[in-house]
Amino acid sequence: MAVRLDDKHVRDFIQPHELEAIQCQVEAAHQVLHQGTGLGNDFLGWLTLPDDYDKEEFARIQKAAEKIRSDSDVLIVIGIGGSYLGARAAIEFLHSPLYNNLKKDTPDIYFAGNSISSSALNDILSLCEGRDVSVNVISKSGTTTEPAIAFRVFKKYLEERYGVEGAKGRIYATTDKEKGTLKKLADEQGYETFVVPDNVGGRFSVLTAVGLLPIAVSGADIGAIMQGASDAAKAYANPSLDQNDCYRYAALRNILYRKGKAIELLVSYEPQFTMVAEWWKQLYGESEGKDGKSLFPASVTFSTDLHSMGQFIQDGTRNLFETVVLFDKVRSELIIEEDPNDGDGLNFLAGKPMSYVNRKAFEGTVLAHTDGGVPNLVLSIPEANAYEYGYMTYFFEKACGISGYMMGVNPFNQPGVEDYKRNMFALLGKPGYEAQKQALEQRLQ
Ligand code: PA5
Repeated sequence: MAVRLDDKHVRDFIQPHELEAIQCQVEAAHQVLHQGTGLGNDFLGWLTLPDDYDKEEFARIQKAAEKIRSDSDVLIVIGIGGSYLGARAAIEFLHSPLYNNLKKDTPDIYFAGNSISSSALNDILSLCEGRDVSVNVISKSGTTTEPAIAFRVFKKYLEERYGVEGAKGRIYATTDKEKGTLKKLADEQGYETFVVPDNVGGRFSVLTAVGLLPIAVSGADIGAIMQGASDAAKAYANPSLDQNDCYRYAALRNILYRKGKAIELLVSYEPQFTMVAEWWKQLYGESEGKDGKSLFPASVTFSTDLHSMGQFIQDGTRNLFETVVLFDKVRSELIIEEDPNDGDGLNFLAGKPMSYVNRKAFEGTVLAHTDGGVPNLVLSIPEANAYEYGYMTYFFEKACGISGYMMGVNPFNQPGVEDYKRNMFALLGKPGYEAQKQALEQRLQ
């Protein structure tokens, strides 16, 4: 099974020869990526990761997940950006956005350290009361402010509840193999540690311990995830556009961008995909958005957002296209029943599954939006299981690498993320930033 791309709803916007014309650029991007000769080539570990990963660490991840499931009611996952979005996306995709509220025999999983909000952190602390807690702190650099503050709070919390020694058995650190403040602290304290490989950037790291430990704690089959990714790696090895949906997606979005479609809206009709879209936004936004160019990645969940953003998509500035993600099979079905009174007038739907109504909502929308000048790419995924999650993740990652090289950027760095951090450190009075502090404060007067 696989992700399938249907491009019939862009045919009014792109002629077949345009794909032919761009084939040579796709091949060039493929060579640069696979031969490791392009910008950012020291961050290509994700390309071969599905087969070439540390099997001993993988077994330790499963063992740690088993321990957390047996001794904890709650797992707090501390991380931000690439050290957060993948795990949360996978857990919601594979279980539900309401995972924590479901009846289950796995721990609740809360994500902390992804903002600087004291209210958000206090909410999570209050949810821990009277329950056994473990913490997975994740930071590749080991120095990021948001997770560092949250970890300071949770370290103290665990030490007060379980004693210093007891806390050590409940803290798992995922970080660089040798450098960074978190690694130093973890070694000093004797926490169990997992590695973010040097050659895998944060936004490409969900198939490392960064994503796999929290995902495994949720009870998902991480072996099946890696198998799906591995099969996708094999499927997307041929650069020919008529045999590679992943590359065709990369090519089509580049063509649309060059025709003035500056915004790509990732659309789904299942709320369990909403966090995957958040992960996708980071993947594409951080990889391509540089040097004053590239597509702006945005997302909506239908049909809810048809009642908010639908007007704009149908009729506002004509600078966007949609990439719609559909599932062949829903996680759980519900049949609309007959009502003898038919007070709500819905008996014309009696006996129909809700997924049928959702499909008709898609069909109606795709026709309306293309009529309104919005090209639609459609990606179909067989179902939201672990194998397909791994497959889809690799599809989007590889398309991102190819697309980024076609855009003419380094898809694997993120220089712009540093700018706000430097200013914030200076304004907070971090040692070493004294000169900038004064200059920035003057500008704020
Ligand atoms: O993709 C990235 O590199 C970023 O989003 C990082 O993942 C994010 O800034 C967190 O960094 P770190 O894992 O070093 O704490």
